[in-house]
Parts: sequence; C-alpha cells; structure tokens
Amino acid sequence: MSHFSFDNPHLTLAPSLLAADFACLDSQLKTLSENNMKWLHVDVMDGHFVPNLSFGPPVISHLKDKGFFLDVHLMVEGRALDIPAYHKAGADAITIHLEACQNPMHYLQEIRDLGLRAGISLKPETPFDAVLPFLAHIDLLLIMTVSPGFGGQEFRETCLDKIEEAARMQKDEKNKFLISVDGGITPQTASLCKRAGAQVFVAGTSIFKGQIAQNLQTFEEVLHG
Ligand code: DX5
Ligand code: ZN
Repeated sequence: MSHFSFDNPHLTLAPSLLAADFACLDSQLKTLSENNMKWLHVDVMDGHFVPNLSFGPPVISHLKDKGFFLDVHLMVEGRALDIPAYHKAGADAITIHLEACQNPMHYLQEIRDLGLRAGISLKPETPFDAVLPFLAHIDLLLIMTVSPGFGGQEFRETCLDKIEEAARMQKDEKNKFLISVDGGITPQTASLCKRAGAQVFVAGTSIFKGQIAQNLQTFEEVLHG
C-alpha cells in the first residue's frame, strides 16, 4: 500500500529506480522515504520495444511493501504486456506506450478493471494528436522527454510544446489525467516543464548520482520553493 494521494498530488517528484544502486537499494529507498518521497517510477524494458533490458514482475514484487506508490512504465510490446502480472507484483499505476500496441484502449481498460491507475506514454517523435482519443480514459499522460530505453540522456526541449498542449487539454473536464515528464529531468529542466504544465517529474540520474538527500532538496526548492 502506498501513502500517495493521487487525487491531490501537488507537484510530485518521482525517483526512477533504473538509476538506483542495486547493491545498496534498501538504504537508498530509505533515504527517499526519509525525504518524503512517496512515488517510485519503475522502468520495464524488453529489449524489443526499446534496445535495453531492465527488470520485470519478480523484481518489482520486492518493492510492494515499501510504502511507495509504484508507477510502472512499460517499455514493452507483445507478450510482455502482461498487465495482470504487474498488478500481482504490486503496481499502483501501469503506463503503456501508445506506439507499442495496436489497441491501447484494450490495455487501458484492463488496467482500470484491475483497480489500477492507467497511463499512456508518448515517445518524443510521436505527435500529440495521436493520444487525443485516449485522454478521457487515462489517469496519467507520460510525456517522454528523451528516447525511451536509457537513463542519463539529455532533455529534449522540443517536447515542451507537447506538455503545453497536454496542459491545454486538461482544461476539458472530461480529462482527469496528470501530466508526467520522463527523461533528462534535472532541477533546471523540471523548472521548464513545471512552467509548461507538468505535474509529475520522473528523475533518475539527477537524484541517484551524488548525494541523494541533497539532490532531493534542490528539486524541492525548484518544485515547491
Ligand atoms: C528512460 C526511462 C526513464 C529513465 C530516466 O527510458 O523511461 O524513466 O530512468 O532517467 P534519467 O532521469 O537519467 O534521464
Ligand atoms: Zn520511465
């Protein structure tokens, strides 16, 4: 169970597990909790949809009882889009990629039928219009600000327009999704995304590289200062 309130999220920083040091994961997770982090972003990669492999349900299930809202970002296609397996592993939200399946609505419905928050993600080169038919059926719109597959890449400023378009669509009361950004998020780029209308800020490298507590403090000043 997580202590995160999805309906009243304010601006949320979401540490991305991909950049954690798995040799001392427990102590890093403890530092995140002690610094008031409620949300954990979990990147699943299949080596097909993206040219990299990460982890799947068995690893995620170890995070189930740590008190975080588990935001599972599926960069997978085909058989790996096994929604019940991520539900069983403890996901609170599951985000699929628009480009990874022919019938995104089927998966969004499956996610919601399991009582989870449903998200959809767009690669940087996918035009915003492609997601329009799904906006009334999602809880989370994950706008990729780098090419999915690897941490540590540079933020693409061209994605800011997409965030602004999403923020405009949020004004329609049918649309109740949160806008999340992912890739190359630093305190500086988070500030640009905040101005464009983002609400959830996924960050790996810039949280886990160096002193975690200090990095979180710098983000805190930008997001809530
Ligand atoms: C990339 C992943 C990201 C990644 C972000 O495909 O979706 O969540 O962990 O890493 P940074 O913050 O290092 O760009
Ligand atoms: Zn991600």
